[in-house]
Amino acid sequence: MDYRTLKPFPEGFLWGGSSSAYQCEGAWDEDGKGLSVKDVDPIVPGTSDWKVTSDHYHRFKEDIALMAEMHFNEFRFSIAWTRIMPDGVTENPKGIEHYHEVIDECHKYGIEPVVTLYHFDLPQALQEKYGGWADRQCIEDFVNYCRVCYREYGKKVKYFLTINEQNMMVLFNPERLTNEKKVWQENHHMLVAGAKAMIACHEMCDAKIGPAPNITAIYPATSRPEDVLAAMDWDQIRNRLFLDPAVFGTYPQALENLMKDKGIFPETTEEDFEALRNGHPDFIAFNYYGAGCVKYMPESEADDLANAKEIKDFMSGLMSYPGVSASVRNELQEHTSYGMGIDPVGLRATLRQLWERYGLPLIITENGCGVPDTLEADGTVHDGYRIDYLRRHIKACQEAITDGVQLFGYSPWSAFDLVSTHQGITKRYGFIYINRDEFDLKDMKRIRKDSFYWYKKVCASNGRELD
Ligand code: BG6
Repeated sequence: MDYRTLKPFPEGFLWGGSSSAYQCEGAWDEDGKGLSVKDVDPIVPGTSDWKVTSDHYHRFKEDIALMAEMHFNEFRFSIAWTRIMPDGVTENPKGIEHYHEVIDECHKYGIEPVVTLYHFDLPQALQEKYGGWADRQCIEDFVNYCRVCYREYGKKVKYFLTINEQNMMVLFNPERLTNEKKVWQENHHMLVAGAKAMIACHEMCDAKIGPAPNITAIYPATSRPEDVLAAMDWDQIRNRLFLDPAVFGTYPQALENLMKDKGIFPETTEEDFEALRNGHPDFIAFNYYGAGCVKYMPESEADDLANAKEIKDFMSGLMSYPGVSASVRNELQEHTSYGMGIDPVGLRATLRQLWERYGLPLIITENGCGVPDTLEADGTVHDGYRIDYLRRHIKACQEAITDGVQLFGYSPWSAFDLVSTHQGITKRYGFIYINRDEFDLKDMKRIRKDSFYWYKKVCASNGRELD
């Protein structure tokens, strides 16, 4: 619906940017840090490893000062479990001290830290010891780690996020095609771990806490009834499976029935569901990079997926579920040069769906335009495409607020350039350019992009100045 006047962003709205430890800190083995599964993952050929990344571990003061210059009142970052507990269970005082320093530095400038407890980087020691999330013990080890975070930072941090993009970790796990039950079992353990982490947070500190999945509205590829139903069903697998248990303490009904029908419903206990019922998120954080689009896919096409060789087909295969739906490229949606969707209307639709379904305050913890940037000879970076992308998404937020959605923050990806999950440092998202290439670390100088100056006005004006 069109409004004649849009509501302003509420007073105290959080404006900032996001990052994750393994993608920006570097210092991969310094000050007692242990290895995470990310440190040992094979590197995508032609892209940088995780050893130095943006060197934020050593330069966080400079980075936070630049965020303050942009008038951020929020910075979302993750704690590396392996920095504060190198083997996943034993504390490392130097690592613990590091995040005290980061948090204190944020507060020096009135920047609210929004702290992700887990962003893809499970301690490798736990993976080796018992297979990581496949084992129930991982729930207890994760909650103990969270307790250390609450004990240490609980008085200084107002917002914790449990697990970043659990849904992407699970859905993009290739084992889903060969040993599906195992992957849903890991997922179940993560759901219970998230619930127990929320319970512990509420017991130990006044901070608010919520999950941080990647959520998106799902469009049917056509108005064919089978496609419309496929969109509803994929919504259960892609989105609701990760939020219904956190908010309502239950699996989405139709999906639970399907899993039981196929004999792949995870092993659960009454105590698990008690935790799911008692762990209450205070808000929902979510990452958004464009809406999904699906068509109905009969189960008979499953073999094509299992045999998909090309990474592109393989990835879209992992976003498909034979007997339910297949993801398709939405030609009516714009795309970045990396094929990621640009869909601000989809953001408004996603905000509306989340608010109307769960009734919890929302914060966007990722959204952004990852493309190569050019550092000009005069030291400038003209990223008008990023400004355009962000402006349209912020406008969509304002429309959703006018719809009645309770949105309390916008924290795009990423505060400064960092290494993408699979496409290296060349795929840049930040307001601050880091002067390094894929393999040449150069001087790592921090350079303000055009978007830096633009976003500074947005933050300072509480979203009033978008031009
Ligand atoms: C999210 C992740 O999936 O998207 C981030 O939480 C990630 O870790 C971001 O970097 C952008 O994706 P990519 O693959 O371009 O780095």
